[in-house]
Amino acid sequence: MARYAVFGNPIAHSKSPQIHQAFAAQRGGELVYERIAAPLDGFADAVADFFAQDGAGANVTVPFKEQAFALCAVRTDRAELAGAVNTLWQQDGQLHGDNTDGAGLLADIRDNLGWPVAGRRVLILGAGGAVRGVLGPLLAEGPASLVIANRTAAKAETLAALAKKSKTAGSTPPPIHGCGYDLLQGEFDLVINGTSAGLSGAMPDLPGTLLTAAGQAYDMVYGSEPTVFMRWAAERGAATADGLGMLVEQAAEAFARWHGWRPTTAPVITTLRQEPA
Ligand code: ATR
Repeated sequence: MARYAVFGNPIAHSKSPQIHQAFAAQRGGELVYERIAAPLDGFADAVADFFAQDGAGANVTVPFKEQAFALCAVRTDRAELAGAVNTLWQQDGQLHGDNTDGAGLLADIRDNLGWPVAGRRVLILGAGGAVRGVLGPLLAEGPASLVIANRTAAKAETLAALAKKSKTAGSTPPPIHGCGYDLLQGEFDLVINGTSAGLSGAMPDLPGTLLTAAGQAYDMVYGSEPTVFMRWAAERGAATADGLGMLVEQAAEAFARWHGWRPTTAPVITTLRQEPA
């Protein structure tokens, strides 16, 4: 039987097996989907073993997404801009890679929450792997402008330059700008938090005027309680959401890639929402 798996380290708390098995159950089927804790210095060998032993598709999470990118012989455009791969499969004896994180983010923001991105002023906070991973699909959606702001301004500037040159930005990309938090000015319609600051209960130091009551705020992390960033946005009257829907949507995108069939995400998001984070 074909095997599927998620590679990471640590990986014990990954919800991916549950999500992919719930998708398979929608078709009345079962799925072998394992968690594989690859050694920190043994990711390439672990992937080779997996595909040699009935492996049909794999997800990849922290800290291996960049290594997965390097291993692939063929990559999608959005994986190229991400510099990271979270979905692997083999075709004609070659390892292929995609990055479904950005598509997952967009599906949640645009389709589940009904927040438009096209034509709006978008601010994304952070300039690490999580933000780089979603830039392609975000730009492809056609925002009026995109500002990338980060504690370390130089990293935001580098990412903005990379985004401007990318194929996914199209032939007439919107204005894309990178800066530190101190230089942020004006108002934004949609603010996305892609920093890991919330994991330690912190958040970037932002001017309170960035987000109006008509605005929307999305945190790419999730938890059983609203994050610090979501509370900051809610105090300004903005609509807020966390990243649980993105987690399920990026999995759905990988599932569709492997199985040629798109699952329904809403019931899976509802089930996960009712469980402890
Ligand atoms: P990830 O894969 O989650 O993106 P990363 O590549 O280490 O992890 O990036 C972490 C991001 O969170 C960076 O943008 C980091 O800002 P710096 O580039 O200035 O380090 C941001 N970050 C982490 N802790 C933060 C904090 N307390 N305040 C503001 N930004 C923070």
